[in-house]
Amino acid sequence: MSTHKQLVLSGMQPTNTLHLGNYLGALKNWVRMQNEMPCLFCVVDMHAITQDVGYGRRKELTDATREVAAAYIAAGVDPERTPIFNQAQVPEHAELAWIFNCVARLGWLDRMTQFKEKSGKHKERASVGLYTYPVLMAADILVYKATHVPVGEDQKQHLELSRDIAQKFNNDFQAPDFFPLPEPVITGPATRVMSLRDGTKKMSKSDESDYSRINLTDDADAIAQKIRKAKTDPDPLPDAKKGLEGRPEAENLINIYAALSDQSVDATVAQFAGQQFSGFKNALADLAVARLTPIAAEMRRLLADPGEIDRVLKSGADRARALAAPVMAEVKKLVGFIA
Ligand code: TYM
Repeated sequence: MSTHKQLVLSGMQPTNTLHLGNYLGALKNWVRMQNEMPCLFCVVDMHAITQDVGYGRRKELTDATREVAAAYIAAGVDPERTPIFNQAQVPEHAELAWIFNCVARLGWLDRMTQFKEKSGKHKERASVGLYTYPVLMAADILVYKATHVPVGEDQKQHLELSRDIAQKFNNDFQAPDFFPLPEPVITGPATRVMSLRDGTKKMSKSDESDYSRINLTDDADAIAQKIRKAKTDPDPLPDAKKGLEGRPEAENLINIYAALSDQSVDATVAQFAGQQFSGFKNALADLAVARLTPIAAEMRRLLADPGEIDRVLKSGADRARALAAPVMAEVKKLVGFIA
């Protein structure tokens, strides 16, 4: 039996703007989890430099970090209750990541599908940081001994690696149960939101077509237009969930509707059974506009005062460090460092 106190940690990268997949797959669940357990939410700025770093990127990174923090708050994370901070302000993440680099095995990292996707054909030109990215992610979680990690489906393999690292550290240092084995929390009808242009591809920040995704900052017209133009098939909507099989675009839009309306996929299918896409898309556009535009408006309001966001991040980082420092001190003792 694990003796660890329940604690939630999760994070998002400040690269481009956040989209509906980030919101439904992760952020919306974070807001709910605040009522269930203590939480920490991080803006992972150090992960954001694994692919694109340099002078030209500096301002973009700073702005995107503030924007992600504003999105957390606008979506309903309460910074008074829940520390919101950027990773770079808590050096313990990087410190633990180095030790974990020496615990994790090359063979484990070689299996990571996200590295293969992101590095593309020219693996040798990818940064070393991109390769060890999941090790830093394990450190993000375990430096707080966090037990629950709410994420979208695409992070599942990284969380399995975090569990392997925790287990190996505990074994190697003969400290059974020192680190918890963190549980992925992948819940809701939209754990993998797909592109609006191609129901077999994940909705992603890096897709060239802006019509493939709904950004959290899109206005009502853009949201409605993207939904109206979303790819569909010629058949009416089915009257049972099974009828969505082999219809990835229909399934994706139904899942999005279910997640935005807080109802089950079955109830959503029943609501639109036998209808044409045109009517369903109008209903989905209305719902998405009603749910998302208040978040965008609140983000704009918050971003008008960057100083206040920086204060939230600093205060969050101070509170996070107070939790991470004692864990790091224990780790150093276990490793044998004079500290
Ligand atoms: P990132 O920044 O790519 O995505 C942030 C969160 O959004 C989820 N997500 C999606 N969910 C459903 N459908 C989609 N199309 C979709 N696209 C993205 C992701 O699963 C994620 O939950 N490695 C992480 C960031 C990270 C982290 C951590 C997360 C760093 N350290 C520690 C948890 C704990 C990432 O790149 O997420």
